[in-house]
Amino acid sequence: MPAETLWDRLPAADGLLCMLTDSIGPAELDRAHRLQVISQMAVGVDNIDLSVCAARGIPVGHTPDVLTETTADTAFALLAAVVRRLPEGRDVVREGRWGDWDPGFLLGGDLHDTELGIVGLGRIGTAVARRAAGFGMRVRYTSRTRKPHLESSLGVSYRELPDLLAGSDHVVLTLPLSDETRHLIDREALALMKPGATLVNVSRGPLVDHDALAEALSQGPIGRAALDVTEPEPIPPGHPLVGMPNCLIVPHIGSASVRTRAAMAGLAVDNLLAGLDGMPLPARVEPGQSSPSASG
Ligand code: DGY
Repeated sequence: MPAETLWDRLPAADGLLCMLTDSIGPAELDRAHRLQVISQMAVGVDNIDLSVCAARGIPVGHTPDVLTETTADTAFALLAAVVRRLPEGRDVVREGRWGDWDPGFLLGGDLHDTELGIVGLGRIGTAVARRAAGFGMRVRYTSRTRKPHLESSLGVSYRELPDLLAGSDHVVLTLPLSDETRHLIDREALALMKPGATLVNVSRGPLVDHDALAEALSQGPIGRAALDVTEPEPIPPGHPLVGMPNCLIVPHIGSASVRTRAAMAGLAVDNLLAGLDGMPLPARVEPGQSSPSASG
């Protein structure tokens, strides 16, 4: 829904089913005098002012769990594609540049026998870790709180962020966006990463300083990046990252499988109807919880 239409309709709305692109801040909530429930069709709710909702007693629903495995599949697909240089290979074929077989042509990195660092071991981070084990990767993670039960069940080890960045061949971001995590991956953080390392982001674009990323991809240390999310979205076609061969960008499709989007829609409707009936939401964002994003 265009922002102006949403703005016009808010005063009459009893319930709101919104998308991650709708900004629901204090001004919007001020207009929505009748609002009894907000249901977002996404797990991340960083576009909604949760503290104003809590103060007004408006429950906020979201769609965790149903998108976990699909988003982890996307994270892995992005990682594999950029490490093995698949988009560059496709371009070579399409553009008629496929010449004689050459032992030194399009050499990339490996997934097997490498160190994977996961930043944010929530639902999606955990699902990425499970996939990594199948690919023969060694997994370390960092997270707000240490998770000993997952360390033993998944065979992952804990590191502080600087150690994780310095020691990982590939880093995947699956943590929520909040005031504390905005630009967590800035110039200093990128400078800590291993030469040639890979950065994958399937959470929210503003976790990464994109100017610093473009610089790190062209001058080092890192070797490649794969982004499902950017800042802003859509990223302008003229942005330096868009034209870089070592940067793969896709348009926020982490959860975009037919089955998963249907499940998200179903859960969003269930949350909305429960809120309108004054019943507990099947998937409510807990008051006081920091805005969960793709990591759930
Ligand atoms: C989310 O749910 O937060 C994703 O970004 C879209 O699936």
